[in-house]
Amino acid sequence: MHRGKGMKFVGDSRVVAPEYRKKQNIPKDYSEYPGKTEAFWPNFLLKEWMVGAVFLMGYLCLTIAHPAPLERMADPTDAGYIPLPDWYFLFMYQLLKYPYAAGDYTVLGTVVMPGLAFGALMLAPWLDRGPERRPTKRPIASGLMLLAVIATIYLTWESVDQHDWEAAAQQGAIIEHEIDQDAQGYEIYAAQSCIGCHGNQMEGGSAGYALVETGLSVEEIKEIVINGRGAMPGGMFDGTEEELEILAQYIANDGNDSEQ
Ligand code: HEC
Repeated sequence: MHRGKGMKFVGDSRVVAPEYRKKQNIPKDYSEYPGKTEAFWPNFLLKEWMVGAVFLMGYLCLTIAHPAPLERMADPTDAGYIPLPDWYFLFMYQLLKYPYAAGDYTVLGTVVMPGLAFGALMLAPWLDRGPERRPTKRPIASGLMLLAVIATIYLTWESVDQHDWEAAAQQGAIIEHEIDQDAQGYEIYAAQSCIGCHGNQMEGGSAGYALVETGLSVEEIKEIVINGRGAMPGGMFDGTEEELEILAQYIANDGNDSEQ
């Protein structure tokens, strides 16, 4: 196979090569320019693959060094949870906080504005066909790009600034708590229906809250068990008053019979 036979590379797709202006669609054979051309297979592809492999290794190292931050199991009953998109979407998230892009105008903020921005980006090669490459000589394109970059940075900054990071860390925190499963309190907990909704480890889940680090007092817990609260029905406990006391103590002590 001849080197680069039938292959051609054009640096800027918007610039029409001189010979194309006359004879369109007849590709010129660049093989007579040594050093300006190379075979697609294997030379060019091999280089591409090697660069790709370097980046892949880089990303692998990065994911090992910085594991994805995980939160506790999603809880659909938790209406207080404020979800937050990843950092690269924070600017769009922030946009939706402004009255002209939210509420009655949600379509503006979710469809029209992003649609215009990304549509313009996609149409840019057709709209801006000038051969000039220096940013200073392309004031409209450069200006719009600068505006977009500034707006994105500003919105991202604002959303980071306005977010309550302390509450966010709390609401998603994974509660790793050793509970004493040999305790009398756990026996009662398991014998009653509690375990079905609040889990083996009192870790909570889709049907009930975690029962460790509730911050509730013994009296408050008894109250909730007897009368129920929210999605938790009351009147499920059918033990003695003494057992209820032990169970409430056990929960108040985060899964231990006595204060530790
Ligand atoms: C049908 C499922 C279900 C059962 C069974 C159940 N719970 Fe609950 N529990 C819930 C739900 C749901 C909540 C959250 C209530 C709310 O939305 O305020 C809750 C909340 C609680 C809370 C308050 C937690 C907090 O952080 O505010 C306590 C304490 C509690 N349950 C104890 C018990 C005990 C003890 C039992 C066993 C006698 C029990 N639950 C049985 C579903 C259940």
